[in-house]
Amino acid sequence: MDVVEAIRKRKSIRKFKPDTVPRNVIREILEIAGRAPSGMNTQPWEFAVLTGDVIERVKNANIEMLDSSAPIGLGNPPGEKSPDTVYRRRQVELARMIFNLMDIHREDTKKRAQWLKRGFRFFDAPAAIIIMLDRALPEPGPLLDLGAVMQTICLAAMNYGLGTCIESQGVSFPVVLRKYTKISESKRMIISIALGYPDPDFPVNKLESTREPVENTTSWHGF
Ligand SMILES: Cc1cc2nc3c(=O)[nH]c(=O)nc-3n(C[C@H](O)[C@H](O)[C@H](O)COP(=O)(O)O)c2cc1C
Repeated sequence: MDVVEAIRKRKSIRKFKPDTVPRNVIREILEIAGRAPSGMNTQPWEFAVLTGDVIERVKNANIEMLDSSAPIGLGNPPGEKSPDTVYRRRQVELARMIFNLMDIHREDTKKRAQWLKRGFRFFDAPAAIIIMLDRALPEPGPLLDLGAVMQTICLAAMNYGLGTCIESQGVSFPVVLRKYTKISESKRMIISIALGYPDPDFPVNKLESTREPVENTTSWHGF
């Protein structure tokens, strides 16, 4: 698969087969993704890889937290989008497409809540990668580096027939992750990536999210 094909084919996978992902495969993906660029080659990323009993405990504890209405602390909050912006419209459009494919009606609060929970269970993925940043690096610059490695992980995973879903939901309850991984408070959990073999029959895995045409995002100078 060449690089353009991989970029075009990558998509969020929101249901996985139960098959485990071998540790050496994940290790290779992280080794490859570690070739991502970073400001002054600081490589500020750290990873925690969850599978087996640990990920199952995290999934269950996340749901308990959600059910107890614990405050959701996104690792890197996307920010409130005011209703009349294009960003909010794109967000609403994504939800509409997902609910359409899942046959969930707007007013069906029960099904919507069930859908929401799936994200907190890493969409049934057998593995997840948590991307972390040391609190000694509080400035926003390193977040760019983490974004680069995040996307590179998703692309590299495709080489092994694996699917991914980048997920803020997966790091919403750092207290849960710390309990089962003993990750130090000195590490901020920024984002998670659900990882596994895609279930091709699940309706939402057929979703082709839209993109704004280049004409709408780009201005050209000096041509
Ligand atoms: C920083 C970030 C956080 C995300 N968090 C979630 C999430 O919590 N739940 C989810 O279902 N998708 C999440 N996504 C996936 C986006 O919804 C998805 O990338 C976007 O809709 C484009 O679709 P595509 O990945 O299929 O191209 C996240 C993506 C990014 C980059």
